Amino acid sequence: MAAESSEKWILNVTAQTPTNIAVIKYWGKRDEDLILPINDSISVTLDPNHLCTTTSVAVSPAFTQDRMWLNGKEVSLSGGRYQNCLRELRSRASDFEDEKKGIKITKKNWEKLHVHVVSYNNFPTAAGLASSAAGLACLVFSLAKLMNVKEDHSKLSAIARQGSGSACRSLYGGFVKWIMGKEENGSDSIAVQLADEKHWDDLVIIIAVVSSRQKETSSTSGMRDSVETSPLIKHRAKEVVPKRIIEMEEVIRKRDFPAFARLTCADSNQFHAVCLDTLPPIFYMNDTSHRIISCVEKWNRHEGSPQVAYTFDAGPNAVLISHNRKAATLLLQRLLFYFPPKSDTDLNSYVIGDKTILKDAG
Ligand code: DP6
Repeated sequence: MAAESSEKWILNVTAQTPTNIAVIKYWGKRDEDLILPINDSISVTLDPNHLCTTTSVAVSPAFTQDRMWLNGKEVSLSGGRYQNCLRELRSRASDFEDEKKGIKITKKNWEKLHVHVVSYNNFPTAAGLASSAAGLACLVFSLAKLMNVKEDHSKLSAIARQGSGSACRSLYGGFVKWIMGKEENGSDSIAVQLADEKHWDDLVIIIAVVSSRQKETSSTSGMRDSVETSPLIKHRAKEVVPKRIIEMEEVIRKRDFPAFARLTCADSNQFHAVCLDTLPPIFYMNDTSHRIISCVEKWNRHEGSPQVAYTFDAGPNAVLISHNRKAATLLLQRLLFYFPPKSDTDLNSYVIGDKTILKDAG
């Protein structure tokens, strides 16, 4: 058994996973350990060339403990969420053999071998740009490849979900729905693809990074406080979201942009209303975020039908979705007018105002 021998070998896998942006938001858990949500959610997975995580995972008999480096800094893997993902994956690992390199790892050996993980986000971490979604999805996907886990994407999504709820949606491209499920053990709380990347490929997503600072209230603690204190979240989960999910699925199927924009903006606004309804209130958006909303609302009203949708996650950064490249170009021109750049950089990533960076992620 090579896994227990003194042989010096190392087996590694590298994967890249894009982040996803929810257009019908997940906010609130019914089970904190298994990460089971109180409502379904729908997201769009971004182009992997832009906001994504790259993760390399390695296993070797020389490793004496599980270790992880995130953006060059060592972080602990001892947290319950990482451990849950590792346990689930190790229990599903299969025999692996590479005769040429003389490596043979049996199912049982996977339990004893330690892993090293190196992960890098090409965008600000924990700034409300769903870094945990890309990060945990990439970790689960790359470890599953390394450990020869023979499960389909939906099963892997249920494992990624235990790392971070929104991560389960990053296992698929295009439009993705996270079904909240009914089972107590979470077996039916999985992600499914509603439409692939090609279905609506003229949409252009622009991220306006208003601040790349880490947020003060994490999504995890923010949604816990909302569940405990907000009367509005109950109404949202029971009455509002179920109807919006049905409508959004239809709107995506038909590629009906005005209806898509109306639903996306309304859901973002209600999510932030729930945050304000929480005790103590949570303020994820700032003045610049509000100004961006006003700018988009004015433009949409002026045009007579929505040209751009906005949505904000747990942070001040705006995700702007335009109908097509023409609308995106006009939007960028408008943003440049209202938030003039302070430094000369290229059009794909430039600084406007104090800390604002626009990045064309389309
Ligand atoms: C506002 O998935 O980061 O982005 O499950 O506690 O890790 P945990 O939370 P997380 O929450 C994301 C919340 C959101 C909305 C969404 O992505 O649906």
